[in-house]
Amino acid sequence: MILVNGQFLARENVHIDLEDRGYQFGDGIYEVAKVYNGKLFRLDEHLTRLARSARELRITLPMPLDELKEQLLKLVEVNKLLDGIIYLQVTRGVAPRLHSFPGENVSALLTAYTKDLPRPLAEITNGVKVVTTEDIRWLRCDIKSINLLGNVLAKQHAVENNAKEAIQIRGNIVTEGSSSNFLIVKGGAIITHPATNLILKGITRDCLEELAAKLSIPFIEREFTLAEAYEADEAMITSTTSEVTPVVQINDQKIANGIGPITKLLQEEFLKLTV
Ligand code: PDD
Repeated sequence: MILVNGQFLARENVHIDLEDRGYQFGDGIYEVAKVYNGKLFRLDEHLTRLARSARELRITLPMPLDELKEQLLKLVEVNKLLDGIIYLQVTRGVAPRLHSFPGENVSALLTAYTKDLPRPLAEITNGVKVVTTEDIRWLRCDIKSINLLGNVLAKQHAVENNAKEAIQIRGNIVTEGSSSNFLIVKGGAIITHPATNLILKGITRDCLEELAAKLSIPFIEREFTLAEAYEADEAMITSTTSEVTPVVQINDQKIANGIGPITKLLQEEFLKLTV
């Protein structure tokens, strides 16, 4: 079943209008939340971020967050989802094509569906290779917008170079992956790009920040270069779907310790949060 503005519909009964602003302008926002053993992981955090994205783009959500939360829990239940994701999207609604906002009478369109998705165990265990690419995205990467052309091109670059992820570089500063955050470890400290307008503040990244505090590992938010990443002791990407995935190679450069002890510790501790 698919959730469409409060209604649960069969897939074949969901019809998106040609003039939906998400379709025509990419005028919308989204969230991807993980379900572990039938339980939505960090749902409140995802909803808070959704509300923030909506506020920044002046999209009025079609229902209060507590109502939406109940509907998402029900969506997982009716679809009998055990391990997978919820994909949730809100567009500014359906209106004749004009760039400016439609009138007050047009309301946002919220859709959500579930998908079975196993944990990427091989990648989590063995680590992955990443490649780098120029960060050509807009200057509001903190908004989880469905406009993902820069991210799409970056990920395609990764695929064409037999890599799991493309790490983006703006100027000479490493920002984040095409669909993940990027963190390095140096001298026992975790270093990652500050949560500015240039990256998405990941829920998984937030988990790592919490875990680092608990484990007394310094979590340093500062800019760093590719040269620094090459010299790192450990590196990792984080996201809802990839969890804490070790990075063992950046372009042609192997990471010093491969899958290092801090990455392993964070993986173990992260797993505990999900049960
Ligand atoms: N991507 N940065 C970008 C650009 C992302 O698209 C994502 C998530 C993240 C990590 O955020 P989180 O830890 O909250 O998942 C960082 C999702 C999973 C996606 O687009 O599929």
